[in-house]
Amino acid sequence: MRENDLTTTQAPFIEQAKGRGESSIRQPYELYSERNHEAWRRLYQQMTPRWRQYANERFLEGIDLLAMDPDKVPRLEDINRFLDPLTGFKAVAVAGYIPAYLFFDSLRRREFPTTITIRDGGRLDYLPEPDIFHDVSGHVPMHTDKAFADALVRFGDVAHGVAKKYAGCIGEKKAMDELTSIIKAMARFFWFTVEFGLMQPPGQDLKVYGSGLLSSYGEIRHAVEAPEVQRYPFQLEWVVNQYFEIDHYQPLLFVVESFDHLFSEVKRLEEWVLSGKLNNVSPGEPHVNEEDLRSFAEALVEEPSSPKGSEELVLA
Ligand SMILES: [Fe+2]
Repeated sequence: MRENDLTTTQAPFIEQAKGRGESSIRQPYELYSERNHEAWRRLYQQMTPRWRQYANERFLEGIDLLAMDPDKVPRLEDINRFLDPLTGFKAVAVAGYIPAYLFFDSLRRREFPTTITIRDGGRLDYLPEPDIFHDVSGHVPMHTDKAFADALVRFGDVAHGVAKKYAGCIGEKKAMDELTSIIKAMARFFWFTVEFGLMQPPGQDLKVYGSGLLSSYGEIRHAVEAPEVQRYPFQLEWVVNQYFEIDHYQPLLFVVESFDHLFSEVKRLEEWVLSGKLNNVSPGEPHVNEEDLRSFAEALVEEPSSPKGSEELVLA
């Protein structure tokens, strides 16, 4: 393990931050090694022609608007200088996985939790977990688009509504089962849109807008061209019940017509949450862990009120 390096799974800086229980961190730019920059450079070079061929227009505009350096790992503050005035979104450095509610709640604040490590240059197509290439080149250019950014914020609002409804329900079996089901449905929605979504406006070519595809040299082409991939118009009742696996190319993808269409589906998701329609979705992946559940159930539990009489005491 090298001290001066931010390679995924081998970064002492990240391990130390996690050890201190920190989730929000600074981006220690001085720690990127030459081989980290080299990994970025090669990934960016590899992806550029694929983006031109397969990415949706708004993504390509986003790449230009952010003025990313193809040769160096980006500084988040540079990215944010361009991004913030466009949609109010910011990329915020995190030490790794953050529990589901905290992630969605960040979207409400127009903050995108961003991994700052980068994959090993020796295995560019292998990605054990998100890295800065996935997060910054795959997700962040989409945040320059107002309709897409608004859909993300609305998704965060849905999560907030869920946290409100299930505040303090830890230990109540029925409520916990419902919450598990709703988080699962939300994760599936997110997966089949923000991470692996396809888009085809009427009469136009099929393009990619999901970040998992936009940051994968092999899968971006596979998603659009492979005859064995099933591509269907986005259908909410199917998406929320459809399990997925993360360790191979996706066999099934859903197509929206536009980001306004995506936004309207997020609104429907919200209605379905509120009406109880998602309380018992089909079981299977993704697994909802205890930390994710607690993040929702404990987020909005009110602090115990101050002891009786304290108000009078202050007033006196
Ligand atoms: Fe992602």
